[in-house]
Amino acid sequence: MGITIGFVGAGQFAGHFMNLFGLHPDVDAVYATDVVPERAEEHRERYGLAGTFPDFDALLESDVDAVAIFTQRWTHGPLVLKALEAGKHVYSAVPMAISVEEIEAIVKKVEETGLTYMMGETSYYNPAVVYARSQIASGTWGRVFYSEGDYVHDMDNGFYAAYQFSGGDAWKATASYPPMLYPTHAIGGVLGAVPSHAVSVSCIGIPDDRGDGVFDKDVSLWGNTYSNMSALFALADGGVMRTNEFRRVGHPAAAHESRFRFYGTDGVMEQTSTGAAESDRDSIADIGDLFQTKVDIDPESDEYKDIDPDLLNSFVSGTAKVHDRSRLPQEFEGARNGHEGAHHFLADDFVRAVRDRTLPPVNAWLSARFTVPGIVAYESAQRDGERLPIPDFGDVPASLTGGSEATA
Ligand SMILES: NC(=O)c1ccc[n+]([C@@H]2O[C@H](COP(=O)([O-])OP(=O)(O)OC[C@H]3O[C@@H](n4cnc5c(N)ncnc54)[C@H](O)[C@@H]3O)[C@@H](O)[C@H]2O)c1
Repeated sequence: MGITIGFVGAGQFAGHFMNLFGLHPDVDAVYATDVVPERAEEHRERYGLAGTFPDFDALLESDVDAVAIFTQRWTHGPLVLKALEAGKHVYSAVPMAISVEEIEAIVKKVEETGLTYMMGETSYYNPAVVYARSQIASGTWGRVFYSEGDYVHDMDNGFYAAYQFSGGDAWKATASYPPMLYPTHAIGGVLGAVPSHAVSVSCIGIPDDRGDGVFDKDVSLWGNTYSNMSALFALADGGVMRTNEFRRVGHPAAAHESRFRFYGTDGVMEQTSTGAAESDRDSIADIGDLFQTKVDIDPESDEYKDIDPDLLNSFVSGTAKVHDRSRLPQEFEGARNGHEGAHHFLADDFVRAVRDRTLPPVNAWLSARFTVPGIVAYESAQRDGERLPIPDFGDVPASLTGGSEATA
């Protein structure tokens, strides 16, 4: 018997994963609920879902095995906790939560209940990260002492429309969402490859000057004025990680909006918007081809009609050469993928973890290490770059190890 999954939030992103979970041979039924009921109903029809629920509480009272949280980015923590308390396994879109307290509570609840928690961090299966994970694990680059992970997404590339979609008349209050509270596409790529975690940070925020009421202290729900932020982290292994979160930047969303660079004592990998190079002391190789995932898209086709044209290229992608699809279900062949080939692996990771009662690769402990550093970085920026310590909730407890393999 397969598992059943109920989606909380049927907005712009959820459909990608409804489709994949629906195709997965170990999933028996997918449901949806949304505070805007027509959205849940529209997704039911479009993805052939088994049904809808009137609200989150009704979903939790049902016998679904798992819930998938796809609500707005600042809302996840309390919903995840409530779902775990109701005995449900949880798949959560990023970020894990927006406060250290919420994250600590989730980690504790997962340990206490033994339920599956997974954060759907797309950068974990970003082709450059998949490649770096393997090169670092094999020691090819020696000691990796400095890494960079950036998430470069300009507000004009789809984000205004995205915030307006659920934000109502007050959309500007949440469109000012602090960049460092969405840190996982950058940090998750570095720490998805470098087996360490951040211990301290100094961060600088760049106040926005567009003057359109977004990133206005008095309008912003978070009193946030920064649209671009840069942070430097010390890692537990003595190395350094640098992260940029840019929302006002002359760069197209289509060109590696998350990009990574790793510097080791024996080798270096540098990814740019258009390519990538790998070097040792004697030579440099162009490896950009390994990370290309382009698919031909007809934006007019029905398949893509719900996706903002400015987001199309990041929401829809093929698979890269470095991805090993052999572990994926046959049913995923030809199915819409996204974020440089990550969606198929994330959907399969979650189903395997729930089905086999194993830990997913991006489990609660790793999710915390991808998210907490950004929260502290935002605090540092508000304190003019003061270097602050980063709390850590440790490795996966020994009693819970034996997780599923992270092959891709
Ligand atoms: N690369 C990535 O991993 C990636 C990309 C895009 C979006 N996301 C994440 O996916 C999530 C969803 O993004 P989106 O663009 O679809 O947002 P959205 O605003 O389009 O959709 C959110 C939906 O959740 C519903 N909702 C909110 N609270 C609810 C509740 N308590 N119960 C039921 N429904 C509720 C809203 O009505 C809305 O329809 C966000 O957290 C975002 O960060 C991740």
